[in-house]
Amino acid sequence: MPGDKSITHRALLLAALAPGSSTLHGALTSEDARSTARVLRQLGAAITPLRSGSPVSVQGHRRFAAPAGPLDCGNSGTTARLLLGLLAAHRFAAVLTGDRSLRRRPMRRVTEPLVAMGARVASRDADGLPLTIRGGRLQALEWHLPVASAQIKSALLLAGAAAGVAVTLREPAPSRDHTERMLRHFGFELASRRGRIQLLPTGEFVPFDISVPGVPSSAIFLLAAAALAGRGAITVDGVGLNPSRIGYLAVLQRMGVLVRVSSQGASLGEPYGALSVAASSLRSVSIEPADVPAVIDEIPMLACLAARATGTSRFSGLAELRVKESDRLALLAENLTSIGVAAAVEGDDLSVTGTARPLVGRVVTHGDHRIAMAFAVLATQPGARIRIDDPDCAGVSFPGFARALGSLFREAA
Ligand code: S3P
Repeated sequence: MPGDKSITHRALLLAALAPGSSTLHGALTSEDARSTARVLRQLGAAITPLRSGSPVSVQGHRRFAAPAGPLDCGNSGTTARLLLGLLAAHRFAAVLTGDRSLRRRPMRRVTEPLVAMGARVASRDADGLPLTIRGGRLQALEWHLPVASAQIKSALLLAGAAAGVAVTLREPAPSRDHTERMLRHFGFELASRRGRIQLLPTGEFVPFDISVPGVPSSAIFLLAAAALAGRGAITVDGVGLNPSRIGYLAVLQRMGVLVRVSSQGASLGEPYGALSVAASSLRSVSIEPADVPAVIDEIPMLACLAARATGTSRFSGLAELRVKESDRLALLAENLTSIGVAAAVEGDDLSVTGTARPLVGRVVTHGDHRIAMAFAVLATQPGARIRIDDPDCAGVSFPGFARALGSLFREAA
């Protein structure tokens, strides 16, 4: 598997602020990761080209340098939001922008608490990019996160860590905790109990080496293809097994998928191991709002799997899916319907009734990588004729996806 996207972004960001030379092994080299590297170079870090199979070396400095032009975060919400947190601790103005999809995604959820800490933010649109942030001397923050979001949480923790002030957060449900694990590695005291997270500014960023584990949120596409394949099994090695990322394995098991997990090691506090899935008969599943943060990036694939399960699956409380790279809730229902699956949105809930009939029709991605990959998996089903308008957008998070998916079937043949 390619390297984990969330961990790669964080490792690049923190290496850029660690004075000296850091090395990332197995980093993701996708377009999103390149966006982070590009903006960090504009902020003064020297980063070697992101090429699959070669380590990435980062020469960082204690503080960012003021950028000469706008920082274009491309399609990457994680880049924009986490960088906002770090920029809030710097006394210069920076303009952040992104592609069409990113410019429509909400930023106030991050800028509002950063302003409460002392940053100044100006934007044409009250809730989106482009915006200008001018950081400064920040003060400690106590904040209730309006939604369970690792991006908001991380932006605020990184602002506190870079500015040397305490941050106390309440989150409505647990979200991925890579930032907490990394900050602990740098000596920051971080307590997390029953939805309350407290960072004390006790650490400092120093150069590091990391082996980035494989990305579980992309492994799901290969595992799902194997589950649907009718025969055979696959094992994916070296995948991140951070418990906050593999909530989807329990959902797969509830759907009747045969899953095996085995641990192989850990790097910088991040466990990794092997995931195996065998061809299985699928049944419907119910996802409650409380389950959603743990499977936020995997809903597209799970909903597409539900299209091949017996019975009607219900996914409740998907409001956050509307503000991802696309309105994933609307697009899932629209695309499932257009390939012949009964699917409907009611409020923030999605229902999908499985069918064994061949799936035939067109899929519109709006450039959303996870929508493209989830439907590409359905396209491997017997008799399927599914035309995806922009299959290449998978490269946002999974370079070589089509080849990896194809190879599962070629090797079995
Ligand atoms: C991410 C957090 C998630 C996820 C995104 C990556 C991260 O977003 O959807 O792909 O790296 O922190 P939210 O936690 O904001 O929902």
